[in-house]
Amino acid sequence: MCKIRKGRFIVFEGTDGSGKGTQIELLVSEMKRQGRNVYKTAEPTNTSTGGMLRDALGGFVRRDAYELSAMFLADRIFHNVNPINGIKQFLDKGIDVVCDRYYYSSFAYQGIDAELEWVMNMNLECSEIAKPDLCIFLDVDPETSDKRISDNRLEREIYENKTKQQEVRNRFFEVFRLLADTENIKIVDASRTIPEVSADIIKIYNEIKEK
Ligand code: TYD
Repeated sequence: MCKIRKGRFIVFEGTDGSGKGTQIELLVSEMKRQGRNVYKTAEPTNTSTGGMLRDALGGFVRRDAYELSAMFLADRIFHNVNPINGIKQFLDKGIDVVCDRYYYSSFAYQGIDAELEWVMNMNLECSEIAKPDLCIFLDVDPETSDKRISDNRLEREIYENKTKQQEVRNRFFEVFRLLADTENIKIVDASRTIPEVSADIIKIYNEIKEK
């Protein structure tokens, strides 16, 4: 009997205002057009842990970076293993999963105020947390990111200011260098037009999908 091919696990990352939402929709439409079965998801999740994280991100509740790292970790474990809509059971059934943010965000955001190595190890060494087949990082300079946030939002989350975005972007690049040999990370210039960025992403997807 032939074994079902595992689904592909694709993660989108980027600083705030990098256009992840739009590009995820475009890639998911293309994957479906190609006949793939796709489950779209995001972190923080829609669970009560995700709700607590959103309260902290919105600045309603103050939380320490170590505490936040542990909460994101718990949210991510549930996101992977829960039997209803957990990432792992979709991948096992051959369904592709596209996720808006994942552990790279914990490294870049919490890894500034909490010890980076500690944050990385607890995620990368956790057997319950699936490793993505591909991480697409949408890169925009902090000026563009800030302008997009101003144009689209009335309120800003705790990380959504220019200085923090610069710091987070630098941290993403540092983390990508550390992970260069072990993770499949593609950096896409997201300051271009939506169709240009989308064309690049689809090309990257087409390259990995048959592997
Ligand atoms: P996102 O959903 O991309 O933002 P938006 O509210 O604009 O749709 O992400 C929410 C925030 O969560 C973002 O500022 C990054 C932060 N985050 C972390 O700090 N650590 C993490 O591990 C994750 C997954 C997200």
